[in-house]
Amino acid sequence: MNIIKATDYNDMSRKAANIISAQVILKPNSVLGLATGSSPLGLYSELVKRYKQGDLDFSQVKSVNLDEYMGLTHDNPQSYYYFMNENLFGHINIVPENTHVPDGTAANAEQACAEYEKVIQSLGGIDLQLLGLGNNGHIGFNEPGTAFEQHTHCVELTESTIQANSRFFEKLEDVPTKACTMGIKSIMMAKKILIIVNGKGKADIVHKAFFGPVTPQVPASILQMHPDVTLVADEEALSLCNL
Ligand code: F6R
Repeated sequence: MNIIKATDYNDMSRKAANIISAQVILKPNSVLGLATGSSPLGLYSELVKRYKQGDLDFSQVKSVNLDEYMGLTHDNPQSYYYFMNENLFGHINIVPENTHVPDGTAANAEQACAEYEKVIQSLGGIDLQLLGLGNNGHIGFNEPGTAFEQHTHCVELTESTIQANSRFFEKLEDVPTKACTMGIKSIMMAKKILIIVNGKGKADIVHKAFFGPVTPQVPASILQMHPDVTLVADEEALSLCNL
């Protein structure tokens, strides 16, 4: 694993943007796997800035998002579909038809997940998958205990993830309890993985995930087995790692 130490959140965002920019410049028709949450916000605004400066062209890029809440429509500001348009897609020249987010409103959720996996395959797989790290070690919505062999599937969110996500909702009851997520297997099939982590609050889980045993109890620990992973983390997140 390649570990890049950043001084703070902004530095992490710029360093991660360098990696995505290099990917898009070297392979203009890249398939990017994208994430939501607070970790990539700075990175996305950095990509938007570079696009506006004329340094990046997303016209041939295709994207697949990691996950989506079940039950939220596209116009719901808490849906990941909305998040992606608001924070990235709406500000760059990516073709809307080339962007993919799991359908959280499908009547048959299992079928929607299976179809999403086929979409990833039909694009030829993911060139670069961006990930954030959950406080409990989850990646996507693959919570502790998830089998490493799973492809895109529906999940019940754990209490700790519902609590963590409640900061984005008015009331705890509004936080969806189910989601559709790429599985660990779908993530591990990406050619390259970029994971970004910041803040003291994640120092313990960073240490467990990247320097502890590989176990389904810490889903991100499987990344130790991937041949091309880059972790970009700030000093606080790396503070318990002996680097
Ligand atoms: C988001 C996702 C989640 C987040 C993780 C970290 O699409 O799949 O796994 O990456 O929960 O969230 P933040 O970045 O908000 O700390």
